Amino acid sequence: MKKNKLDTSNFVMIAKTYFGLEPLLANELKQLGAKNIKILNRAIKFVGDNGFLYKANYSLRTAIKILKPVKVFKIKDQDDFYKNILSINWDSFMTIDDKFMINSNSNSNIFKNSLFLTYKFKDGIVDFYKKKYGMRPDINLANPTIVFDVYLHENTCTISLDSSGDSLHKRGYRLNTGLAPLSEVLAAGLVLISGWDKKKPLFDGMCGSGTVLIEAAMIALNIPPQINRKKFAFQNWIDFDENLWNLIVKSQNNKIRKSEIEITGYEINNKIFEIAKKNILNAGLNSIIKISNKNFFNSSSIIKKHIIINPPYGIRLKENIDNFYKNIGDLIKNKFIGSDVWIISSNLESIKKIRLKPSKKIKLYQGKLECRYLNYKIYKGSKIN
Ligand SMILES: C[S@@+](CC[C@H](N)C(=O)[O-])C[C@H]1O[C@@H](n2cnc3c(N)ncnc32)[C@H](O)[C@@H]1O
Repeated sequence: MKKNKLDTSNFVMIAKTYFGLEPLLANELKQLGAKNIKILNRAIKFVGDNGFLYKANYSLRTAIKILKPVKVFKIKDQDDFYKNILSINWDSFMTIDDKFMINSNSNSNIFKNSLFLTYKFKDGIVDFYKKKYGMRPDINLANPTIVFDVYLHENTCTISLDSSGDSLHKRGYRLNTGLAPLSEVLAAGLVLISGWDKKKPLFDGMCGSGTVLIEAAMIALNIPPQINRKKFAFQNWIDFDENLWNLIVKSQNNKIRKSEIEITGYEINNKIFEIAKKNILNAGLNSIIKISNKNFFNSSSIIKKHIIINPPYGIRLKENIDNFYKNIGDLIKNKFIGSDVWIISSNLESIKKIRLKPSKKIKLYQGKLECRYLNYKIYKGSKIN
């Protein structure tokens, strides 16, 4: 639906992210112009208007969702929750033709199981429409037009509209992946945490499907992370302002810059290498990112580069994984003089076999897997522990 008048009223939003990426996301929000930024656990609260909500979805690299809280209330029990849901005027958020979906998260004894929270929420919405129109809107989990988020903390319930829909890690450029691909959001986070100056050549020695390389190139060229994405849930909202959205997209795309930056990677597995090539091509970055179907351990000297590596964690690896990590340590110590090396792994034991003293150790998660992101500054004479 097109709107004639620009709605510039401000409201609170919540951007969700992964553990450890909160300061990066807060910084991204600040750069983008958010107001009243407050860091929460795996989320950032902030204030902005509709245009900002569109811009945040399109431009934030380390957010996985942007929620717009629309109701906050206290409940005594499950029945009280249902009555509150029934009393909300759902007509102001969706039409009867919408297909909706609910994401629930309960941190409360009132609903010990989030699934029951979802069911009660659904009952409330359905009964609201049945009472008012004698008909009900359908649920669609695969392709919803409206996504609701309910978060119950003790007795406080927050109902939000999920403006993103699909998680924002789904950028739209990755056609396929290798084993254990990094989430695009985490990959962007790794590049940002590493403090890359966007000038030093960047190298990923075990690039898998190319996620780190693609995110790095997008950061260097200031390409909006969602430039390849086709849809966001807010585009189905009753108050969606298409003109404003087009303006935001245009103005963010105008900030893309040219760069002569060198971004390279190796991948030993031929099939995965081909996948990475396709992903890079699909992202439109094949003139910037150059990858080779090569063994990292055959690297010649890599001097003064910025290196990010996500080695296998060992689950399917035939050779001794401790030895594999030891060889990484030997290689970077001997051949990567003057380079800034960052390695992420969830194999918390094998990573010690690198035997170099990390200058930084950062705890992150890949899904449920606890990881360490370690930084090694390699100089002539770097000592093996
Ligand atoms: C954990 S995955 C990397 C996933 C990648 N970050 C992504 O997002 O798709 C590790 C990759 O290292 C590759 N690999 C293993 N040993 C290698 C070696 N010696 N040289 C180059 N690549 C290697 C594997 O084939 C695998 O694709």
